Amino acid sequence: MKYTFSDRMKDLSANAIREIFKLISQPDIISFAGGLPSTQALPLEQVKEIADAVLSSDKAVRILQYGATEGYKPFLEAGLKYIERAGIYNQNLENILAISGGQQAIDLMCKALLNKGDKVLVEEPTYLAVLHILKTYEACPIGVKSEDDGIDLEDLEKKIMEHKPKMLYLVPTFSNPTGKTITVEKRKKIAEICQKHRLVLLEDDPYCELRYEGERVPSIKSFDKDGWVVYTISFSKTISPGLRTALAVGDKEIIRKMTLGKQATDVHTSLLSQAIVNEYLRRGYMDPQLEKSTAIYKEKKDCMLEKMDEYFPPCVKYTRPEGGLFIWVVLPKYMDARKLFLQAVEKKVAFVDGSSFYPKGDIFNTLRLNFSNATLEQIDTGIKRLAEVIKNNIKEPKN
Ligand SMILES: Cc1ncc(COP(=O)(O)O)c(C=O)c1O
Repeated sequence: MKYTFSDRMKDLSANAIREIFKLISQPDIISFAGGLPSTQALPLEQVKEIADAVLSSDKAVRILQYGATEGYKPFLEAGLKYIERAGIYNQNLENILAISGGQQAIDLMCKALLNKGDKVLVEEPTYLAVLHILKTYEACPIGVKSEDDGIDLEDLEKKIMEHKPKMLYLVPTFSNPTGKTITVEKRKKIAEICQKHRLVLLEDDPYCELRYEGERVPSIKSFDKDGWVVYTISFSKTISPGLRTALAVGDKEIIRKMTLGKQATDVHTSLLSQAIVNEYLRRGYMDPQLEKSTAIYKEKKDCMLEKMDEYFPPCVKYTRPEGGLFIWVVLPKYMDARKLFLQAVEKKVAFVDGSSFYPKGDIFNTLRLNFSNATLEQIDTGIKRLAEVIKNNIKEPKN
């Protein structure tokens, strides 16, 4: 090899989804692989109007200057109001940090808390980028079992005792990849467990506003009495991922360390993006936008589930999420989703095989489907093709 790279990059392979994007970039492929918002749902007109207003105002040159690492104050204040929707009150400017996308919260938390070899508990399966980030910090992810309503609390306490982890990472609402949501009762218990074991939880909540049915549940952070939960909410799925804007909220000591880490990473989040999201929130554009986007996503989600019910063989099980962007599919144990993926791409349909979402990458009979970015017609055709691939892999029982 021409260059000598750092040890921390040694085991880092390209993120599975980025690799898949290369394979499925042909225009005639129906992709259920990504997690992109639908282009129909992006609020182009409002963002154009706001960007124009911001850049025409007397604050324009300030917006084009360097800013504070902590964030743009009007945006942070709007953010403190916004998180009340998740049941988080009584926070102030010391408790909040503007970040460049929710993914940065994971990175900055790892940077602030972890030494080489430290253990981090994750629900199994988990968001694959967290596994990727943990590798760059040479930390060790430990999987905790998952039930229909999210993380298994008995296994969580067992793993805490056994591994003495530094951090717990959860996506409690419409999880990526499973679409599962943790119940209110469990959320309260998770906050208690974190307090009892002095364990820091990163609650990653990018999907909570994308609810299509059922009742809203308060965040785990809303039950946190003693500062063990850091909450992050992104505007990627509700406004636009291209704005790279999100918030991290937590105890001021942790937020301070994250701020120092961020200073070294990217100085600050784009002031223009913060100013746009600030105006977006203050002008009251969020609720009408959510009404529009959730109607689009609900139709797509219902369509995908209906087609799966119609075409998939009964040996295949899947989640029925009340929101978010993903459906999680469990195939019979003997099937290998990596093999199915190659067959599916030949039939011009794609998904993400589930092994990338497991800390050890050792479960092969699962896959993730995204419903937000295909048309209803593509969903019908794509699910039909995928069903065919699955059926071709069914082993007939031997008599
Ligand atoms: C659970 C979860 N966390 C974080 C992110 C990163 O989002 P962003 O950095 O765009 O806010 C995603 C994106 O798909 C996600 O699914």
